[in-house]
Amino acid sequence: MTNDDEMAFEMALIRRAAAVEVLLRRLLDDRALSGEIARPERLMAAIRHGVLNGGKRLRPLLVMESAALFSADGEAALRVAAALECVHCYSLIHDDLPAMDDDDLRRGQPTVHRAFDEATAILAGDALLTLAFDIIAADATLLPAERRAALVLALARAAGPGGMVGGQQLDLDAEHARPDEAGIIRLQAMKTGALIRFACEAGALLAGAAIEDRERLAEFGSAIGLAFQLADDLLDLTADAGQMGKATGKDAAAGKATLVALHGPAWARAQLNGLVEQAHELLEPYGDGAMLLKQAATFVATRNS
Ligand code: IPE
Ligand code: IPE
Ligand code: MG
Ligand code: MG
Ligand code: MG
Repeated sequence: MTNDDEMAFEMALIRRAAAVEVLLRRLLDDRALSGEIARPERLMAAIRHGVLNGGKRLRPLLVMESAALFSADGEAALRVAAALECVHCYSLIHDDLPAMDDDDLRRGQPTVHRAFDEATAILAGDALLTLAFDIIAADATLLPAERRAALVLALARAAGPGGMVGGQQLDLDAEHARPDEAGIIRLQAMKTGALIRFACEAGALLAGAAIEDRERLAEFGSAIGLAFQLADDLLDLTADAGQMGKATGKDAAAGKATLVALHGPAWARAQLNGLVEQAHELLEPYGDGAMLLKQAATFVATRNS
């Protein structure tokens, strides 16, 4: 990627992040929605702490760019992007809990259980997961009902026991079970890949695109999802907490089974290049319209935070 490409991508990321943050701030307001009774102030404050705290918002960008590729409605895409970010932030809040990775720092700030308390952090995660499906299903997501249902189903499959949550279980097991390469790839495709895959597939679902397009975008999402976790594991080894906004060096200390631990950083970097190439090839049929998604694939592999 040239410096100009990098700049164009980073500007797009900032623009998309700002748009999704405006919406998230509105969705995570203290005011109860129709059908709700009341939103407790402390719970909402904890939720906002876990969401409105400066994430990269890569998954929302992938939703919005994949939606733009198929000319889907931009406002509906923004809501799906916000919903996915809610699921992602919930996964981080729970991932950081003492019973899981026991982390004190996230996005450069105290984790939700440190800023509030453990029980409130658990509930904040629960609420964000539920809210995500509310956001997609609501009438304000101006899509035909069957498309909203398809998005709800795809997100449920990506986030649930056969996706992200299942991957987190396999990740816990991996501290004793020593999975082989195929086992690690599957674990990562679940814990990190599934939500990123959904982000890319969502554009096709939003637009009601052809099944071949949906599958192609899902495959693109799988490739960059794997690249994303590979980069995260490399950064855990090579970066510092100031740069990452979260503790590093934890995987090796915990004896965590990662591809970086198995094959070393040089192999991981070569693998990353291959995945980016594969991701770019998958988008060839879309020509220049897919430029930003291609840049996103490169960003995932070369990011330094
Ligand atoms: C971190 O995700 C968690 C992993 C899946 C490795 P991000 O690196 O996208 O975190 P934020 O949202 O930018 O904080
Ligand atoms: C977390 O993986 C993946 C999910 C939250 C689902 P990690 O545990 O490696 O993520 P970080 O390094 O804490 O962000
Ligand atoms: Mg973890
Ligand atoms: Mg963690
Ligand atoms: Mg990590």
